[in-house]
Amino acid sequence: MDKIMWNEKFNIGVDVVDTAHAGIFRMVGKLMELVEYQPDCQEACKESIKFLEDYTMIHFSQEEAYMRSIEYKGYGKHKKHHDDFRDITLVSQKEHLELSDYSPVAVRRFVGVLIGWLTGHIMTEDQAITGNIETRQIYDETPDTTVISNAVNQAMGDIFHLKAELISPVYNGGSIRKGYYYRLCYHMEDGGEMQLLLAMEEQLARRGVGMMLGLASMQKPELVKDAALQILKQFFHHMGKMFKSDANYKICKEEILSRHEFREDFMTRYSTNLLYETRLGYFIFCSRKRMEGKESLSYTG
Ligand SMILES: [Fe+2]
Ligand SMILES: [Fe+2]
Repeated sequence: MDKIMWNEKFNIGVDVVDTAHAGIFRMVGKLMELVEYQPDCQEACKESIKFLEDYTMIHFSQEEAYMRSIEYKGYGKHKKHHDDFRDITLVSQKEHLELSDYSPVAVRRFVGVLIGWLTGHIMTEDQAITGNIETRQIYDETPDTTVISNAVNQAMGDIFHLKAELISPVYNGGSIRKGYYYRLCYHMEDGGEMQLLLAMEEQLARRGVGMMLGLASMQKPELVKDAALQILKQFFHHMGKMFKSDANYKICKEEILSRHEFREDFMTRYSTNLLYETRLGYFIFCSRKRMEGKESLSYTG
């Protein structure tokens, strides 16, 4: 297995935060080694996960203290991300771990979710603390594909550090090479429901998942599958912040699909169907919004 090291390129420039991010990823790397190379590692994994959890919670409180010290205006929303991770994501992952008695499958899944969540969070929320990325609410809610397309492009740059070129605003459902497929569903605050159908080619997902660990590409497909889902959830959230309404929404369903399920779902018609090319492969973004049974073409409003 490649040596795992925090990629300093992703430092935000605040010592206490950068040291903790490096520490968390070092521990994640150790946990990965443990589950790969040590048979019967349940007890050791349990201990290591507990330690990692405690360390992450201390990191959250230190990062929150730093935000308060600079009177960071995004403090409340940022803290909510930390709280949701602790109270929702972590709780459900720990249930899986306990139920399976810390089986290697459940530990690998935990590692995937953790890497994905941290990557998405650090690249968007944490980088914003010191102004390394700036997300301004620049877009009006509109059915205009160009606007949605620009927001996708910006999120791709911020999170994956890649340039994405829109090669079709009317993607036709054609199959991509080997990839990962997802469907996310959100309840919007206006009572509507937003559904996203997303796909990423393999190399693109592997690079996104590997980058914080200093890897050019993450080689474990199962881990990439879980991690990329977490990154994409934050991708969408990050896009949402670019819209003037900055609407509140809550995820109600998240699914990992097979290529076949993706194709079948695509046939149910989405109002926005975008196909992007990056140097590491294609990215597909389809969305639709439903207002109490009827479909609306707009992104959020
Ligand atoms: Fe944070
Ligand atoms: Fe952080």
